[in-house]
Amino acid sequence: MAEERRPDNMTRITTRELADEFIEKQISDLRDQIGDKKVLLALSGGVDSSVVAAMLIKAVGDQLTCVHVNHGLLRKGEPEQVIEVFRDQMKANLIYVDATDRFLDKLAGVTDPEEKRKIIGGEFIEVFAEEARKLDGIEFLAQGTIWPDILESEKGIKAHHNAGGLPEDMKFDLVEPVKILFKDEVRVVGEALGLPSNMVYRQPFPGPGLGVRCPGAITRDRLEAVREADAILREEFAKNGLEGKVWQYFTVVPDFKSTGIRDGQRTFEWPVIIRAVNTTDAMTAEVEDIPFELMKHLVARITSEVKGVNRVLYDFTPKPSATIEYE
Ligand code: XMP
Repeated sequence: MAEERRPDNMTRITTRELADEFIEKQISDLRDQIGDKKVLLALSGGVDSSVVAAMLIKAVGDQLTCVHVNHGLLRKGEPEQVIEVFRDQMKANLIYVDATDRFLDKLAGVTDPEEKRKIIGGEFIEVFAEEARKLDGIEFLAQGTIWPDILESEKGIKAHHNAGGLPEDMKFDLVEPVKILFKDEVRVVGEALGLPSNMVYRQPFPGPGLGVRCPGAITRDRLEAVREADAILREEFAKNGLEGKVWQYFTVVPDFKSTGIRDGQRTFEWPVIIRAVNTTDAMTAEVEDIPFELMKHLVARITSEVKGVNRVLYDFTPKPSATIEYE
């Protein structure tokens, strides 16, 4: 039987041996649970769902169908990369659904963070259900839920989409092979499963995506500013040797404007906030010491390349007192 909860005395998975042991047990548990039935996987392309995909491919092969939903809140270039890696290279059964308009229409005018998460999570489940109805005999829904998701949902700190319920009429059982693992353990397991290291050591990205980095009511123009600024930050971190070294880095565009000046003209535009933090398990986090020269270069690029932005701020706050994300 698969564990429902992380055992109190469980050894932290830090080595290849411990990972292999975990994988062997999971594969056997997955085969017992799934038998000859079919599984649908929410494949976001992040570490957690990629590891789940690799584990399921090993355990049940082509009984797995992966669904990649583009909710319009993904980073620049992300849907294209998921298709390339999983469909073209790994030859997985991959269904790509562009549901951008559907998500953004539902989110229009919604300001409450938990409400936004619930809409995104609920819509996700709906899209999966629709895809499942098009397929014959899907009985299981696989998810990349990890242990901190469960703990934080239980404590009521925030709702996580992966802990949410399915529509009443859908009779999926859940398959969550990494749910007792901390994030650092998921990476060790991913490496042991043979996933490429740029995928395993990729920074985490929340299920609600850029939606939680566009605080308050999401608008398409502000979302575009978050996406463009994030792409510049990632590009510069990669160029300057910080990719893979800094645990998580991203931009946020808050819902307020301030006065600025450009070409002798007054502007009234958004600030971009840069967040860059280090942690091992996401329960606490420290701020990265970004070289000042790089910071100035980021400010110059973001203020000149990102539409609607006239300031760049750096968030110096550790967790606690802040959380990593803004919502
Ligand atoms: P916080 O903001 O709680 O984030 O310090 C801790 C880690 O969890 C990620 N995160 C999420 N991941 N769904 C997810 O799948 C979510 O709703 C969610 N919220 C936060 C966050 O990016 C960080 O790595």
